[in-house]
Amino acid sequence: MSNFPTKDLLSASVLSKGDIERILKIAETMAPYANKEKQSDLLAGKVLATLFYEPSTRTRLSFETAMNRLGGRVITVTGMESSSLIKGETLYDTGKVVENFADIVAMRHPTPGSVAELAGAVKIPVLNAGDGAGEHPTQALLDMLTIQKERGTIDGLTIAMVGDLKFGRTVHSLTYLLSHFKVNLILVSPDRLRMPAEQVQHFKDQKIQCTETESLEEGLKHAQVVYMTRVQKERFDDPAEYEKYKHFYILTREMVERHNAQMTIMHPLPRVGEISLDIDDLAGAAYFRQVKNGVALRMALLAIMLGKVEF
Ligand code: NCD
Repeated sequence: MSNFPTKDLLSASVLSKGDIERILKIAETMAPYANKEKQSDLLAGKVLATLFYEPSTRTRLSFETAMNRLGGRVITVTGMESSSLIKGETLYDTGKVVENFADIVAMRHPTPGSVAELAGAVKIPVLNAGDGAGEHPTQALLDMLTIQKERGTIDGLTIAMVGDLKFGRTVHSLTYLLSHFKVNLILVSPDRLRMPAEQVQHFKDQKIQCTETESLEEGLKHAQVVYMTRVQKERFDDPAEYEKYKHFYILTREMVERHNAQMTIMHPLPRVGEISLDIDDLAGAAYFRQVKNGVALRMALLAIMLGKVEF
């Protein structure tokens, strides 16, 4: 019997501190397989369905690589237009169909709550790979793994999250995970793109130190980790409004060196100008290592949720 808290992983809020620590530990054991140093057929005979109704490069390929490198197989749907959803099929019916083909699902969709809707229709586990401006729990877990690997610890850190905290689903999930740790969180965003109030309240309820500011300079003052995000163009009704915010924050090498040259710099990617390219060769630039950690982390989750490692 697995002690994983739920059949599905829809929200990071269901995970306890113990769950997070166990997932990260199992992810560490997956690193040699993710890094192509060792081979495994742990998930041989299992099939992952990746249902991606919104654009993705990293997340889908990362899930598929995780499955492939553990000896499993993958079937996939990409884009609404290539699926029966465009014909009017409900998510319920899609779920009922896909569970005949696959043992586990990773799904992305533009509507918050949509992944939960499909998950409710099926008996197999479903992972939320991004539901609109809702959540993205597997990204947040790989972010936690990255923080731990880069800094050696999560407790005690001052972490600045910067950019579109309103629509950015990765930061929504990440705040749930971080709220179990003793962190000092600085939320840097334009007023219009502030973190949803219930998320901030969640932090306050957990007695986590949390401040909000519009100033990137202010946010960087004491930060040991800075988590940059893209302004989520696809969530704006008015393109002119997006234009106003798209380059609100640009992290430059000069800023990093002036505040703390040892700062860990993260980004879920894709970046569209929020981090200048000359930062890439700084020791603390961790965003491509984040991608690498994502494969090990997703290997761990697939193995846990398919009952192939003890949890
Ligand atoms: C993020 C997403 O899709 O939410 N990307 C990702 O999964 N790595 C962030 C983004 O698109 O800005």
